Amino acid sequence: MAILHKEIEDILTQIPTKIESVAIITGAGISQESGIPTFRGADGLWKQYKPEELATPYAFRKDPKLVWEWYEMRRQIIKKANPNPAHYTLVEMEEFFENFLLVTQNVDGLHEKAGSKNIIEIHGNIWRARCTNCNHKEFLNTPLQEIPPRCINCNSLMRPDVLWFGENYDVETLSIVQEFFQKVDLLFVIGSSGQVSVPVYLAKEAHLNGAIVIEINPDFSSYSHFADFILRYKAAESLPVLWKYLKEYLQKN
Ligand code: OAD
Repeated sequence: MAILHKEIEDILTQIPTKIESVAIITGAGISQESGIPTFRGADGLWKQYKPEELATPYAFRKDPKLVWEWYEMRRQIIKKANPNPAHYTLVEMEEFFENFLLVTQNVDGLHEKAGSKNIIEIHGNIWRARCTNCNHKEFLNTPLQEIPPRCINCNSLMRPDVLWFGENYDVETLSIVQEFFQKVDLLFVIGSSGQVSVPVYLAKEAHLNGAIVIEINPDFSSYSHFADFILRYKAAESLPVLWKYLKEYLQKN
């Protein structure tokens, strides 16, 4: 841990004293210490399936019950999970900076549970379901009464209101993120492998527009290629320390 403190002190010698806007991209890694398996980690498998085989429109068309059973298993894990110190640190950061945007790839809702407000869930939310016919959206708790659930309006199949592989991002949401990222001073990328290209592209664009990018991830990711600084630590153990130092630094200068 002494090394972590030293690494953070080194970072602070290289960043400006005036930071006006901050953005965050989070991935499954930030919730790992809350007990939620990451997608591509060893514990991301369910039965014999990889997430990439279930989170698709094709899998849902073929076997909606199987896909919902996978989501139910995940929803049960997530229901028991609580935010960890990394989630709470982001709430403190949001309170400190006037311009702050949290973009999460996670569907677990833990940022909201922690108290973050300005959140964009670019991959949706596992607690919401959406009708495949009339688009009616509804909060569905776990356990579900029936699997797969049906729409209360038109009795068609409901699907999880999340983005699946092969589906398009919401264009308006992306443009809000892009606009913010064009002028952001500091971007933290926390706990994402970067296997999904759109968030990586957004971060790269921010970097090209002058943002300083700090990555927190115990392992190499697609963001590591262009990150200005990298902390190879778990989020819950390193982000609170980084924030303590950064806040003192900004208040002092
Ligand atoms: P992945 O499972 O691909 O990557 C998780 C990342 O978290 C890895 O790079 C790990 O090294 C890192 N990690 C693990 N434990 C950590 C910890 N305690 N602290 C910090 N980092 C840690 O998850 P994502 O990158 O979020 O998309 O995956 C992106 C998207 O792919 C997901 O949102 C989902 C998935 O398919 C959709 O559902 C559309």
